[in-house]
Amino acid sequence: MKVIQVNNYEEMSKKAAEIIINRIQADNKITLGLATGGTPVQTYERLVEDFRKNHTSYKQVTTFNLDEYIGLPITDPNSYHFYMNKHLFHHIDIDPNETFIPNGLAENLEEECRLYDEKIKEYGGIDLQLLGLGENGHIGFNEPGTPFEQKTHVVTLEESTRTANARFFNDLSEVPTKAITMGLGTIVKSKEILVLVSGEEKRHALSQLLHSDKDEDFPASILKTHENVTIIATEDAIMK
Ligand code: F6R
Repeated sequence: MKVIQVNNYEEMSKKAAEIIINRIQADNKITLGLATGGTPVQTYERLVEDFRKNHTSYKQVTTFNLDEYIGLPITDPNSYHFYMNKHLFHHIDIDPNETFIPNGLAENLEEECRLYDEKIKEYGGIDLQLLGLGENGHIGFNEPGTPFEQKTHVVTLEESTRTANARFFNDLSEVPTKAITMGLGTIVKSKEILVLVSGEEKRHALSQLLHSDKDEDFPASILKTHENVTIIATEDAIMK
């Protein structure tokens, strides 16, 4: 794993956007894996800014998001569909039919998960996957204890994850208890992985990722077996 240390969130976002833009310019038919949450917000802002200034086109780009809450309609401001439209998709020239996010309202959720993995396969897998890091080491919504080989599946969110995400909702009770997430087995098949880590509250998780062994109790440790992982971490997230 390659680690790029940056001074702050702004620099992390700038660097991440540069890498993504670079990959799109090298291959405009790229398939991107995308994350939501607080960490990538400014990376998406940078992509939008670049689109406006430099016209990097997303017309041929395909995206697959990591996860979606179960039970929130896409019009709900806390759904990840809404998030992606707000922060990225509505501001660039991407074809909406080429942006895939698990459907948390599907009648048959198991089938939805199976089809999601099939769709990723149909596109030849993910070329570049963007990840944030949960304080408990989750990636996507793969909570501690998730088998490393697991494919896209329905997950019950840990209380710590719901509490961490409650900042986006009016109240903890509004945070869904379940989600669909791309599995670790799916994520790790991505050809290249970019992990963004910012802030003191991620210090413990980042240290565990960098220094401990592969262990299903720490989902992000699956990245240790991958040959092309870059972590961009802010100074305050790196334990001294
Ligand atoms: C989001 C996701 C999560 C977040 C993680 C960190 O799609 O899959 O794994 O990346 O919870 O969240 P933030 O960035 O809000 O600290």
